[in-house]
Amino acid sequence: MPKPSAGRPRRDAVHHPLFARFYARISVAGEGTIGPHRDELLSGLSGRVIEIGAGNGLNFAHYPRTVSEVVAIEPERTLRQLAVSAAMRSEVPVDVVPGVAEALPVKSEAFDAAVVSLVLCSVREVPRALAEVRRVLRPGGELRFFEHGRTWHGGRMAAVQRGLDRTVWPRLFGGCHVSRDPMAAISEAGFELASYQRLLVPEHGPRWPDSFCVLGTAHRPTGTD
Ligand SMILES: C[S@@+](CC[C@H](N)C(=O)[O-])C[C@H]1O[C@@H](n2cnc3c(N)ncnc32)[C@H](O)[C@@H]1O
Repeated sequence: MPKPSAGRPRRDAVHHPLFARFYARISVAGEGTIGPHRDELLSGLSGRVIEIGAGNGLNFAHYPRTVSEVVAIEPERTLRQLAVSAAMRSEVPVDVVPGVAEALPVKSEAFDAAVVSLVLCSVREVPRALAEVRRVLRPGGELRFFEHGRTWHGGRMAAVQRGLDRTVWPRLFGGCHVSRDPMAAISEAGFELASYQRLLVPEHGPRWPDSFCVLGTAHRPTGTD
C-alpha cells in the first residue's frame, strides 16, 4: 500500500521560503559591504572547492580563476534556484547540488578546500556539519570561513544574543543563531586554525546582534582520519 503522502513533492530538509526571498533581496543589497569580505575569504584558493550552504550564490563571482571547480551545496529550494542562475554567470565552473551540511552528498577527501560563509549560524548540528567538512577535505585541505557569532565584548550584547536565540531570531531568520561561537566549533571539530581576524559588519555605525564576524582559514591536519 502506498503511503498517503506518496506522489506529493517531498519537503526539503531546509524549508524557509519567506526567509529565502528576504535573503535574496537583502544579500544583494548588502554586497557593497559584504563583497570585499567575500573577496578576502576566497582569495588564493585553487583546485576543487566545496561550498556549504551557498545560498543564492553570491560567492561565485568572487572565486579566483585558479579554482578548477566549485561544488555548491544548498538545501533551500528558492535559494538553490538562484544559485543555479548565479552559477551560469560564474567564470569558474560551479555545480549546484541539493544537500545538507550534516550529510554532504560527496566522497571523502575529494576537495582541496571548503568554504562556509554565514552558514554555521543556521545549520542544525554544527559539530556534525564540521565533521562532514573534515571528511570531504583532503588531509591538509583548507577550510575558509566567514561567520558571524557571539560578541567578543561580553556584557549586555551577549545577553541580548542569547535571549534572541531562545526566542524570535531563529524563527525570523531561517534558523539563524547569533550567540554561537564558530571558531570554538571549528577548533573542537579538529581543525588547526591558521589565521583569522575579527570584523564588525558593518564596520561603523550601530552594532547589530549579527555584527560580530570572524574571517579566516583553518586546515584539516595531515596524517589524521
Ligand atoms: C544566511 S544564508 C548564507 C548564504 C551564503 N553562504 C552567503 O554567504 O550568502 C544561510 C544559508 O545556509 C543554508 N543552510 C541552512 N541550513 C543548512 C544546512 N543544514 N546545511 C547546509 N546549508 C544550510 C540556508 O539555506 C542558506 O542558504
